[in-house]
Parts: sequence; C-alpha cells; structure tokens
Amino acid sequence: MIKVNNLTKKFGEHISLDNINCEFKKNDYIALMGANGAGKTTLIRSILGYYHPDNGGVLINGLDPIKERVKVLENISFVPQLPPPIKLSISELMQYVSVGANVDKQKIIHYANEMKLDIKTNMNKSFFKLSGGMKQKLLIAISLAKQNNIIIYDEPTANLDPKARDDFYRLLKQNEDEKVLLFVTHRLEEVEQIVNRQIYMDLGKIVSDEVIS
Ligand SMILES: Nc1ncnc2c1ncn2[C@@H]1O[C@H](COP(=O)(O)OP(=O)(O)OP(=O)(O)O)[C@@H](O)[C@H]1O
Ligand SMILES: [Mg+2]
Repeated sequence: MIKVNNLTKKFGEHISLDNINCEFKKNDYIALMGANGAGKTTLIRSILGYYHPDNGGVLINGLDPIKERVKVLENISFVPQLPPPIKLSISELMQYVSVGANVDKQKIIHYANEMKLDIKTNMNKSFFKLSGGMKQKLLIAISLAKQNNIIIYDEPTANLDPKARDDFYRLLKQNEDEKVLLFVTHRLEEVEQIVNRQIYMDLGKIVSDEVIS
C-alpha cells in the first residue's frame, strides 16, 4: 500500500532522510523507532505529502501523495506528534471532519467516551484550550472513527495518563483489520502486542527492519 523509493529529504545542508527504501503492505503493523532527530517525523510527513523530496518519492496505492493529496488522505487516519493549533470548538471541529472527511460524529463520541474524554460538557470549548491529553484523546477518537486503511500515529500517547493509554491500545487492537499501521514510539513495550514489524531509524536511514510473529 505504501512504497518509499530512494527517498532523500534535506533541510539546508542537513540530510534528514538519506535514500530510504521500504514498503508497507496490508496487515503490516509497524513500530517505527529511533533516537530523537533520526528522521521518523520527516518520513511520516513525506508519506503524507507534506514535504517535497529532494530525490525519490512515495506512492500510496500507486498515487503520489503530493499530486493527489485529497484522494490519498481519504483513506488515511493520522495523529501528529504535536496537536495542531486549531481555533475551532469541539463541536465545530466535529462538524468540519464530518463534512470534510466524512467521519461519523456518533462514532467520534463513542470513541471519546471509551477514552474517558468528557466530550458533551466540552462541546463549546476551543480545541486549543483543552489540556494536552484531552487534545490527544479527541484526535485519537477522530482517527478511530474515520474510515481508513492506513493509520499513522506519531507518538500519540505522550500526554495520555496510564488508564487512557490502556483504553487507546484496547481500541486500536479492535480496530486492526486488513490495514497498515505505522506507529512512531519510544516505548516498544507499550505496542508490542499490537505490532508485527519493528523498524529502527538512525541518522536518516533505516538501520533495521524486522518482522516479528
Ligand atoms: N521543517 C524542518 N526544518 C529544518 N529541519 C528539520 C525540519 N524537520 C526536521 N528537521 C530536521 O531533520 C532531522 C530529523 O527530524 P525528525 O523530526 O524527523 O526526527 P524524529 O526522528 O521525528 O525525532 P523525535 O523522536 O525527536 O520526534 C532533525 O535534525 C531535524 O532538526
Ligand atoms: Mg518526531
């Protein structure tokens, strides 16, 4: 489903991705790991079509994520490392994703409740005024509610309390079904039950890629 070919991305003189080649197929549930600055977020942003590569490229189901952004993103759920500075209230954000990305509002509420996010009493609160953990819970609820065959998470649990983490992993496990999951994490022990492939990056390269049963 995702093919990364000879992908190089530089920022000035700094090489953040150094000729990356990899392929992610249906039923690959991947933990993407590596030291701070290894290039994990850069790889994910390139897969999502945020960055123009200096060389090589990405294909998602045969489509270029830069040229065919809208079509490619239709089937991807993504939670970024840092929540975006959204000025909308929760109810406006839900309306926005329900119209713009066809996400079922009732499902968002369902997953929010499962994650113990009190969505009903916070409906009119601005997203950016929510606590760090509440923002992440809402973004996770939307990601689970959205129709997808690719789920990309960039350290989504950083601000979650231990109970919320357990809730999240339980829901994610239920949601696994013929998909690609690309999960950036520094805590392998948390996702070991969910993933079947472990990829390590260092200095912009993939240094190990192991399938585990
Ligand atoms: N927009 C940018 N402009 C300039 N340099 C960037 C940009 N994004 C990333 N970099 C650089 O690319 C390198 C890789 O960064 P990246 O964010 O991909 O690392 P990471 O593996 O996600 O690290 P972390 O675990 O800290 O999130 C770093 O040296 C970083 O400074
Ligand atoms: Mg990162």
